Amino acid sequence: MTRPNLRCAVVATTIALVVATCATGPSTTATAAPASRGAELYTRHCAVCHGDAGDADTITAQLLLPRPTAFRLGLFKLVSTQNGMPTDDDLVATLRRGMPGSTMMSWSWLPEEDLRALAQEVRRLAARGRAESIFATAQATGRTTTFAAAVAEAERELAPGPAVEVGQPIEVTDQNLAAGERLYAQHCAGCHGSDGRGLPQGADWPTDGTWLWPRDFTAGYLRGDTTWRDLTCRVRAGMPGAHMPPVRLSAAETDSLVSFVKSLIPEEATAHHTQWRRTLRVQRTQTLPARLDDAAWTRLERLRLPLAPLWWRPEAPAELWLTAAHDGTDVVLRLEWADATHDAEAQPTSTISDGAAIQFAAATLDPPLFAMGSPQQPVNVWRWHAFDPKDLAGIADLLSPTHTGLDVPLGAVQPRPRAESLAFEGPASARAATGTGLPLQVATEWAAGRWTATFRRSLRARSDQEVDLTGTTPVLFAFAIWDGRIDHHAGSKAITTWHVLALER
Ligand code: HEC
Ligand code: HEC
Repeated sequence: MTRPNLRCAVVATTIALVVATCATGPSTTATAAPASRGAELYTRHCAVCHGDAGDADTITAQLLLPRPTAFRLGLFKLVSTQNGMPTDDDLVATLRRGMPGSTMMSWSWLPEEDLRALAQEVRRLAARGRAESIFATAQATGRTTTFAAAVAEAERELAPGPAVEVGQPIEVTDQNLAAGERLYAQHCAGCHGSDGRGLPQGADWPTDGTWLWPRDFTAGYLRGDTTWRDLTCRVRAGMPGAHMPPVRLSAAETDSLVSFVKSLIPEEATAHHTQWRRTLRVQRTQTLPARLDDAAWTRLERLRLPLAPLWWRPEAPAELWLTAAHDGTDVVLRLEWADATHDAEAQPTSTISDGAAIQFAAATLDPPLFAMGSPQQPVNVWRWHAFDPKDLAGIADLLSPTHTGLDVPLGAVQPRPRAESLAFEGPASARAATGTGLPLQVATEWAAGRWTATFRRSLRARSDQEVDLTGTTPVLFAFAIWDGRIDHHAGSKAITTWHVLALER
């Protein structure tokens, strides 16, 4: 694959841009916009991953693959225009669905006007970033310009052009599919493979600090939707943010190609990975199921939640099954997920075991998903690990070459599973997370490549560090699953977005 030739024109301008943004931009105060609704929402929900200035240079971003988009580069994946710039509708559609197969969740629970305001803010950050590089280039080359003029120029560049043409869905016939398949082999299979499952050699393609490769779109790992219109846009406008070039074909050819691509993607495949916010209704029962495999569990509502691995890999767990019940005094949540290997043994080479955590917060606080709350938005986390890393630290210490206490036999350190209720007030508090002292009963079992775990505690909180489940205010909850086999801190973890826990009275 001769990569540079495959890049579209938009990308060519970016190379200069990346270099240029390294130059110091003008001070932010020069153009500081009054805090708008969009800016406020952005700071609250998005900055943790995309960065305050939209340059995605956050600590969080380093833990994520795909990496959060740096808006300042002005390159987006999901566009419907001839010049590859997203319209507000494109951005709003992305926010509504999220980007399946990444940690970009669906924000569809926000009102439409908030999504519009966020789209504006993304656009503002993109224009500002671009303006800074235009300004820096002008200064470096001795061209006289003002920053306001650079902003105007950036805004012109980023303005969406005319929409790409989208025809009506055509009838699926053998003839159309065969024509589409031929075009696909010619224009697409070089990157996507003849079956759409992606070619591994596409993996060594760096962009803005990210590694990108065409993944298996037949398994639903599409950033965008699979409607006729969406797929036509991907073909005609390309995906500038993924360096996928647009293809110029006649209307009839485009239709056959889209028809063929659509035939490769099963219905509902992307819906499977979309992180919509769901509500779990927790039934009140006379007695709580006593065992992990109690038949009573099968009579309760079972919710499927898609998981997004922080560091994407094809074999990461894709889903979590959830059931819950309460008896007016206690609540039990039952989690089930696939994990091919049972990693509950301490290994000196790994710092993590299999594990699961549930994060809770009062819905009224509307806390950020990723930052583990904030001082104003505390979260309560129930966490279980198949062995406690603190015990493991003891083992590592024993094995270290500087350790002299050879009189302590290795077997004396027995890593034990640990379940604890923790209070967090933001990422900075992670280290000093305090146990809330709440008694939490956790039972787990691994069998035939599957973990089952139940978490049980009283509905009533014992301190304000704990989530109280006796009230009528809805509670948000989100999940994290660790796979101890993956010896990469971020790679071992997969998460869900915030969901709603609604207890039947
Ligand atoms: C947990 C981290 C995280 C948070 C929080 C987050 N994003 Fe993202 N976002 C991502 C990742 C990762 C991608 C890249 C996904 C990909 O390319 O597959 C992304 C991509 C995007 C894109 C690029 C769309 C395109 O067409 O290329 C936009 C726009 C965006 N996010 C907006 C937002 C906004 C607005 C918010 C806040 C409401 C937000 N994001 C919150 C992780 C996050
Ligand atoms: C130069 C390599 C390259 C070529 C050629 C290419 N693609 Fe892609 N394509 C990509 C990459 C990379 C992605 C992955 C984007 C991502 O996951 O972030 C992608 C993603 C896709 C997706 C998923 C869209 C989504 O919403 O995530 C579809 C569908 C697709 N390509 C179709 C096509 C078709 C049809 C053609 C031929 C007309 C084609 N591609 C040609 C590189 C290419």
